[in-house]
Amino acid sequence: EWTEAERRAIESVWEKIDVNVIGPQALESVLIVYPWTQRYFGVFGNLSSVSAITGNPKVAAHGKTVLKALGSGVKNLDDIKSTYAKLSELHSEKLNVDPDNFRLLADCITIVISTKLAAAFSPDVQAAWQKFLDVVVSALSREYH
Ligand code: HEM
Repeated sequence: EWTEAERRAIESVWEKIDVNVIGPQALESVLIVYPWTQRYFGVFGNLSSVSAITGNPKVAAHGKTVLKALGSGVKNLDDIKSTYAKLSELHSEKLNVDPDNFRLLADCITIVISTKLAAAFSPDVQAAWQKFLDVVVSALSREYH
């Protein structure tokens, strides 16, 4: 399923990013750019303004959690479906997150990474990275019935 070049590209992206920085930035972006995603995070308090989102320690902590979960996929490229089976079930049955939102977060992650990596995020690296996120998004969407 993965070529050697794709594996190297995905791993090279992962090596270059700090999940503790990219995670909070990506979650902040999705909450600001797609404001309906705020409704799922009621437990984090009122997020209905940009200033309530950026620098919010709960958003930051959760962004790190999400990016760390992405790291499990990087380490299990040949077994992504089962890696995310439990999380898919959680987002579907317990959190009732509309699976369309996975793609939106994935795109925010890509954009934040692109800014960070600049020229190192060449089109072929970007292609492999987006293919990786597509596979993760489809794995997360699997337990929706
Ligand atoms: C919780 C990962 C996308 C909403 C979680 C947790 C992880 C995770 C690891 C913690 C699970 C636990 O506590 O056992 C991911 C990944 C995503 C993703 C890898 C996609 C790349 C989304 C999206 C939304 C969302 C798009 C909503 C727009 C939530 C909520 C929680 C949660 C509301 C519970 C937060 C809390 O109460 O602390 N997610 N998630 N997730 N996720 Fe996601």
